[in-house]
Amino acid sequence: MLKIVVCVSGGGTNLQAIIDGIENNSITNTQIQAVISNNKNAYALERARKHGIEALCLSPREFSDREEFNASFCQTMGELNPDLIVLAGFLVTIPARMVSDFRGRIINIHPSLIPSFCGVGYYGLKVHEAALARGVKISGATVHFVDEGTDTGPIILQKAVEVGACQTPESLQKKIMEEAEWVILPLAINEIAAGKIKIGESREE
Ligand code: GAR
Repeated sequence: MLKIVVCVSGGGTNLQAIIDGIENNSITNTQIQAVISNNKNAYALERARKHGIEALCLSPREFSDREEFNASFCQTMGELNPDLIVLAGFLVTIPARMVSDFRGRIINIHPSLIPSFCGVGYYGLKVHEAALARGVKISGATVHFVDEGTDTGPIILQKAVEVGACQTPESLQKKIMEEAEWVILPLAINEIAAGKIKIGESREE
């Protein structure tokens, strides 16, 4: 059984796609141990509680500095000791110590085709704003392993989405979530749980 901890900051639609995947058996051999958010008001925490999943809030605001927050975050994660950490719309930088403690065991969903529209400052709607401003005809989503950089780790899965008639960041975000994110994040977890993607390796097809 693959034990996962899902880290979230906002609405949690990707978390919901994972919960649904586990409940409808499109993700097998996987259990969500806990959901962690930096934001106590994140609707994602409510989604977790509704499904009987432990929901924890660890906010940098409640610590005197980032070092103390990082130490507490690493300690909590160390105690949970999941097989895989899934960043599903988590807008906090992962402490270097956690990357090293969980080397090759952290994955992230990013709402563009990396290496386009990624890196520092590209998150949430900003990614889609930039894609529309550049006038791309195709965007999409990427699941990748997390390393010390921002969106620089090995790519696991990508799915392209036609921008089509989308004219606003919100409509493009919705299309990419529906057509790509909610598909490839559950798929990546299922393939890792099934041993098809070795933890710490990218996909070979
Ligand atoms: C998703 O679009 C995810 O790809 C993005 O935040 C959104 C969270 O939505 N993540 C990033 O931009 C990370 N760089 P959700 O809370 O509804 O899953």
